[in-house]
Amino acid sequence: MSQSSPIKLPNMSNYWMPFTANRQFRSMPRLFKAAKGNYFTSIDDRQILDGTAGLWCVPAGHGRTEIATAVGNQLLTLDYAPAFQSSHPLAFEAAERVAAYMPEGLDRIFFTNSGSESADTALKIALAYHRVCGNPLRNKLIGRERGYHGVNFGGIAVGGIAGNRKAFGNGLAGVDHIRNPLDIAKNAFTKGVPADGGVALANEFEQRILTLHDPSTIAALIVEPMQGSAGVVVPPAGYLKRLREICTQYGILLIFDEVITGFGRLGTKFGADYFDVIPDIITCAKGLTNGVVPMGAVAVKREIYDAFMEKSPAGAIELPHGYTYSAIPIACAAAIATLNIFAAERLEDRAAGLSAYFEQAAHSLKGLPMVKDIRNIGLVAGIEFEVIAGKAGAMAFATYLKCFEMGIHVRFTGDIIAISPPLTIEKHEIDRIFNTLADAIKSVAAAGEVGLDASNYLKNEQVWAMQQSL
Ligand SMILES: Cc1ncc(COP(=O)(O)O)c(C=O)c1O
Repeated sequence: MSQSSPIKLPNMSNYWMPFTANRQFRSMPRLFKAAKGNYFTSIDDRQILDGTAGLWCVPAGHGRTEIATAVGNQLLTLDYAPAFQSSHPLAFEAAERVAAYMPEGLDRIFFTNSGSESADTALKIALAYHRVCGNPLRNKLIGRERGYHGVNFGGIAVGGIAGNRKAFGNGLAGVDHIRNPLDIAKNAFTKGVPADGGVALANEFEQRILTLHDPSTIAALIVEPMQGSAGVVVPPAGYLKRLREICTQYGILLIFDEVITGFGRLGTKFGADYFDVIPDIITCAKGLTNGVVPMGAVAVKREIYDAFMEKSPAGAIELPHGYTYSAIPIACAAAIATLNIFAAERLEDRAAGLSAYFEQAAHSLKGLPMVKDIRNIGLVAGIEFEVIAGKAGAMAFATYLKCFEMGIHVRFTGDIIAISPPLTIEKHEIDRIFNTLADAIKSVAAAGEVGLDASNYLKNEQVWAMQQSL
């Protein structure tokens, strides 16, 4: 930071930050003021390499003029059209484009504003589908341990992260969970998809519903093809295919939450394409607009949509659900512009082409102090640390802060660092991410107790915070 030009911090008293230790943040603010390509500019004018594509949501890189222009023009042409009982042409065009990008058959599109809303919308569609088909007792929902389906009540009910559930009461009734596929004892440091155990693990789902529920009471199973938020959990070979078979056998809808795995992250359009397993419903968000306008989508198989159209009473609203901002014009413009970029630059292929290089770079961290496992698929890697007794998460948080200090943005969740750069990343930038991460891990680990103390990082930011509170 240049001492001659003091940083002007905003008043930080009013904004309640999401999923953030607000008090800690105020003592050490990490603020961006601009972004272009694969880099952020921090408030002290440092270039920070974006190792996380924002929050997994900027696959085409930052500051894309094609998207900005489309959104700007749209705002000046039609800013808003009522979403219920009327619409605008771009909504239909966006749905057509999203349908064409989806795996074949999932071509009926419901728009939302986020991944959380997409998850809850998908769950509601599943329940309503069975009801409209005359099976209202098929009304239980199954999720998975460590699953993340956003933060709304449906999403946290089927989600499997205790920290996101414990403060919020009893959630939905009629929900169960299956085991998550992470098995570090067997699969530590596997490159890509673990080879063994997938079918047996999926068979536990069948066992559970047969033993505890009766499959005819289950409406849907929701899983992320690769569990992202809970720490990059890659399912073993055959697992998702077997889940698909079980769902088909018992008439259960299979929902893939592709909020992270959609839009090229695994080197294919969707995780469904990567694993060659077609679910009944796909949810997405994030990359759909390259992160610039909130938008999510739920793609359903045509048969599901047709059931609503054919079996609902004439003139009735077939699905009493929707949002004021469903398919808002600027979101549609952003989605179409983003899909144009994907088509022109073949970003999925770019990710696939870089994935072996990325894998090697990620696994070069094996053997560093505290590193207990490394997992990867496509352009995602998770580095899991040993848990320090009484200090869960401290190693990953300190590593994140150290990386920020060293000019790289990584993400931490529990004791795991996740890397998921824009798909526009270059090889030298992949090297820089993992070399810096390696240096950060070594530095934090070598400093022992002091290394884990967050207040030892980002001294500049602490100085600003003090200035602000004077
Ligand atoms: C798989 C998955 N589902 C849902 C969500 C929630 O998305 P949002 O934060 O847009 O509500 C996320 C966010 O990371 C996610 O990873």
